[in-house]
Amino acid sequence: MKIIRSLEELRSWRKKLAPDKSLGFVPTMGALHEGHLSLVHQSQKQCSSTVVSIFVNPLQFSPQEDFSHYPRPFEQDCALLEHEGIDLVFAPDAAQFYAPDASTYVLEETVSQPLCGSFRPGHFRGVTTVVLKLFHLVQPDFSYFGQKDAQQCAVLERMVRDLNVQVQIVKCPTVREPDGLALSSRNIYLNPLEREKAPLIYQSLKAAVDAYTQGERSVRLLEKLGRSILEKEPLFKIQYWEIRHPITLAPLDKTDPLATVGPEGALIAVAAYLRKTRLIDNWVLNEESLRKSK
Ligand code: PAJ
Repeated sequence: MKIIRSLEELRSWRKKLAPDKSLGFVPTMGALHEGHLSLVHQSQKQCSSTVVSIFVNPLQFSPQEDFSHYPRPFEQDCALLEHEGIDLVFAPDAAQFYAPDASTYVLEETVSQPLCGSFRPGHFRGVTTVVLKLFHLVQPDFSYFGQKDAQQCAVLERMVRDLNVQVQIVKCPTVREPDGLALSSRNIYLNPLEREKAPLIYQSLKAAVDAYTQGERSVRLLEKLGRSILEKEPLFKIQYWEIRHPITLAPLDKTDPLATVGPEGALIAVAAYLRKTRLIDNWVLNEESLRKSK
């Protein structure tokens, strides 16, 4: 497995790839877990070669966030990827990747505004900018993202559409612990008590899905129900617990039954602090997910 840090070296590696072979790309910030690896497996299934990037992107963290503490087990990550048979790890050097006086950004102005966008100003600007830069360097045919970060997927799909980027975004299902907690590099911040409480986020989603399955169609009542489950646990501080359109992230009409949203379904999205750790999760309420939840 090749590890490349320099942009020039990556460009020359890319040029040497046969044009008739497909290239899959999995961008990550490292601290890899089974969630990341599921994206890698999907890429390996679909593409002739797979590139994984590991880069803790300073641009998507606000000054109050955990950039400096974010886990960076680089050797361990590379060992995992080597074991998976990855062709190339691209771990750009931050100083080379961003010029010290960089002043050009990619700004998506609609889908990035609500939910995480309203609590993490500048976050999605950091994500779109880094991902477009990575797309330019790696030039993949397919790029794999986790449904765990549903808004990130929606924003990047919009960016790719609006800027005519020749990359197909592939969304992969959320990988969970047996108790329902979505895998996340940030789960290591949880102490044993917090870890025990963390699956309540999944349970709050599941309760709404169950209520929907049993016939409840009011968006507001479903939101109230899910929210009330998390609110019972004082260690949680909810940022949002909302049902939204899965592509535009627009709020759904109070009186609109979810059934009218269409085959793409409705996105139930949650973000909450569990003491100091911010956790997010979501569930897409569509025919397929309802069948699986039964
Ligand atoms: P990171 O948090 O490292 O996640 C990398 C990819 O793994 C993302 O597409 C994310 O949605 C996916 N992922 C994380 N947890 C998952 C889970 N439990 N199941 C399935 N997929 C999961 O997301 C980022 O990095 C960054 O914002 C990045 C896109 C790399 C830009 O810096």
